[in-house]
Amino acid sequence: MPSATPEREPFRIVLGVAGGVAAYKSAELIRRLRARGYEVEPVMTREARRFIGASTLAALAGRPVRTELFDDPTTPIPHTRLGQGADCVVVAPATAHLIARYALGLADDLLTATLLATRAPVVLCPAMHTEMWENPSVRENLATLARRGVLVLGPADGPLAGGDEGPGRLVEPEAICALVARVLEGYRGPLTGRRVLVSAGGTREAIDPVRVLTNRSSGRQGVALAEAAARLGAAVTLVTAGAHEVAPDVAPAVTVVRVESAAEMGEALARAFDHADALVMAAAVSDFTLEARAEKIKRRDGAPTLTLRASPDLLAGLAAGRRPGQVIVGFAAETSDVEANAARKLEEKGVDLLVVNDVTAPGAGFDHETNEVVILARDVAPERVPLAAKGAVAQVILARVAALLDRGAR
Ligand code: CTP
Repeated sequence: MPSATPEREPFRIVLGVAGGVAAYKSAELIRRLRARGYEVEPVMTREARRFIGASTLAALAGRPVRTELFDDPTTPIPHTRLGQGADCVVVAPATAHLIARYALGLADDLLTATLLATRAPVVLCPAMHTEMWENPSVRENLATLARRGVLVLGPADGPLAGGDEGPGRLVEPEAICALVARVLEGYRGPLTGRRVLVSAGGTREAIDPVRVLTNRSSGRQGVALAEAAARLGAAVTLVTAGAHEVAPDVAPAVTVVRVESAAEMGEALARAFDHADALVMAAAVSDFTLEARAEKIKRRDGAPTLTLRASPDLLAGLAAGRRPGQVIVGFAAETSDVEANAARKLEEKGVDLLVVNDVTAPGAGFDHETNEVVILARDVAPERVPLAAKGAVAQVILARVAALLDRGAR
């Protein structure tokens, strides 16, 4: 009998293996990817063949291993076929040499040519000695690739070949497999089908071409909220004035818009707000701005007087124009009368939830890895979230958002 749900073709993964000791782990990786039902096309560099036998990888993948750009009897253009046919290209291990060639856009073997010929998501798992990993040229090459949308996973910290210890180990095959699964299949959860808009970081107001007026917000809590929303299944837009990147497992589900000033943040939020089901406003928006001078203020002219003017309350403005069913979460950074101030903001800003943190409490607030908050809402008792990692705090907040969205949708 024909099955009721049409079966999709299995996902096809090109697994690039470069020449490093960790190449031995690619055998285990192929086994795991195949166990998830994916097809795996192994592509080894010539150097990788010194570290693990091609027959091992071919046997596990159930297909031949390719290395050469030319003389393939089955196709004259193997890189195009592999690149176009891939749903995901994974390189594990990615050596310093492979990373450099990819960053430069070289196509001098089958693996690098395939990397250039693909439009599929690419996951690079670096592995090398700590000294190489810490070399600025390696870091800059990876930063270039990350900027172009390549997902970088690892390296891990631990024992290395030759008895050394430190960052540079290939991440475990299980973690690589989990990331590939996320990239291909996405996360599913209570926010699947929802669009969540998150703001993060402290905005910067230009004083002159070299100086800015800003605040201590790092953007960590906002990034953690974007990640948590994506892991619950949401499609996320993150408007951020901070420098932190989102984790690679959620990168495909998060559109990042980088802004600097409160005005830029306002424009970016206004563009995305209409399509959003929820707004989570974790950014520390500058309350005051000023007319930036075109030229640097010179010391010899003496201390300047800066005239500040109030910038609009973005959150209150968005909340005032919301459509029915949209859920809005505000934040409050307080240093005194914490809950009384926050309760006032809940009303004044017209939000559904107000997450308050006492930024003077130890381990909480600006630039910490952890946070301690109270979630206020109308008609229910405040929810205290004890000191925890910002990711854990984000999960509690997003669970409340999901519950409110479900209530609104009914
Ligand atoms: N907020 C905003 N636009 C601003 C200032 C704040 O959208 N110009 C948002 C923040 O993102 C946050 C909430 O409003 O979600 C509360 O921010 P907070 O700085 O605590 O409150 P303010 O309204 O600025 O009040 P005050 O600084 O006087 O405490």
